[in-house]
Amino acid sequence: MKNPFKGSFNIDFYTNQSTIKWIVLVVAVIIGVGSIIYTNSLVAKLKKGEEDKIRLWAKAVEFSSSPDADPSALTFISLNLITPDNTLPVIVIDSATQAINQVMNVSENLTVQQRVLEKMKKENKPFKILIRNGEGGTISDVQFVYYRNSYLLRQLGTYPYVQLSVIAIFAFIAYLAFSYSRKSEQNRVWVGMAKETAHQLGTPLSSLIAWVEYMKGMAELEGRDDIIVELEKDIKRLEMITERFSNIGSVPVLKSQNVFSVIDSSLNYLKPRVSSKVNFKINTEDQELTAKLNKPLFEWVLENIVKNGVDAMSGIGNLNVTIGELSESEIFIDIADDGKGIVKGGTKDVFKPGFTTKKRGWGLGLTLVKRIIENYHEGRIFVKSSQADVGTVFRIVLKG
Ligand SMILES: Nc1ncnc2c1ncn2[C@@H]1O[C@H](COP(=O)(O)OP(=O)(O)O)[C@@H](O)[C@H]1O
Ligand SMILES: [Mg+2]
Repeated sequence: MKNPFKGSFNIDFYTNQSTIKWIVLVVAVIIGVGSIIYTNSLVAKLKKGEEDKIRLWAKAVEFSSSPDADPSALTFISLNLITPDNTLPVIVIDSATQAINQVMNVSENLTVQQRVLEKMKKENKPFKILIRNGEGGTISDVQFVYYRNSYLLRQLGTYPYVQLSVIAIFAFIAYLAFSYSRKSEQNRVWVGMAKETAHQLGTPLSSLIAWVEYMKGMAELEGRDDIIVELEKDIKRLEMITERFSNIGSVPVLKSQNVFSVIDSSLNYLKPRVSSKVNFKINTEDQELTAKLNKPLFEWVLENIVKNGVDAMSGIGNLNVTIGELSESEIFIDIADDGKGIVKGGTKDVFKPGFTTKKRGWGLGLTLVKRIIENYHEGRIFVKSSQADVGTVFRIVLKG
């Protein structure tokens, strides 16, 4: 049967999906950078306004200190400018003594004033006031006006960063929640389908077993043991399939097993079922290595990987399995073929459902394999290496 999802759910789907991811990322970066640039320009404008205010104030103070200032102008200035309605903190210091001369909108506490002054020095350049009440209007004193920008302005500068971080955290949590709920939904579908399949197969299977027992005693089949033998083989095969599905549909029991013998018997089962031009070989320095595994499921894993390897070498070549110890608590199983290698860019997608390069492929084999290894064995599986026309190595890591 042809894969009905073909065209809408194959490799194109994954290239499209990664394009969409890039677009989303680029748009998010543009929005982030844009909002920072915009706020920064607002901040710059406001800052300029505050600077102008203080400059004007400093000029007014300077002007009013001059003995020849026009008295009516002085009144205007002292009413409108020298008692400014601005809320900016200002500290005036004497250039000669560095002592604080005057403060506005700053606490009366002297230590606080010193602290605020340090901040002001870092924040803005001071304005100079030349006091001209010396004889004949000469400069009698030089003062510096330090100020801080308004609270609003300072908040506005950090606002986009706070806002973007909050949005990023929220997006991250939402993503986690969605992917968690998608995963648990997928789990329910896998488990449900597997249980149902095992259940549906069970009924005809037990009936078949009974029929074969009945046929063994039939006079008409005297001397035709071959029929019974073949039927029993098929029943065994059906039982194996049922067992696999029923294990996928429940919490599988893991037992410490000899890895070499499980793989050896599994390959012996597969050998006659694939091309005879494929050489199978198992390499291991230690045939006694054990791992916690569920035999029916693990055999299913091997079958899928081996069949993919045989497909990749079009039925002629070598399939080498290497078993070894990764650490005290982990063993690895490398399955290497010398086939054509995974298509370019496919290495990270081979485990995704629907990814297939085969005309009659479903793209579910490796999805199942990953599920069995990661969810049911708490192990790892990945493509260790893959090179065009050299071959592919899949590595499985299991708990020892
Ligand atoms: N050993 C391998 N060598 C080259 N490509 C592979 C190998 N194993 C898997 N692939 C690629 O991964 C795809 C998905 O494999 P799989 O999930 O088993 O689905 P299917 O076998 O139905 O295509 C294959 O179509 C193939 O392109
Ligand atoms: Mg396959």
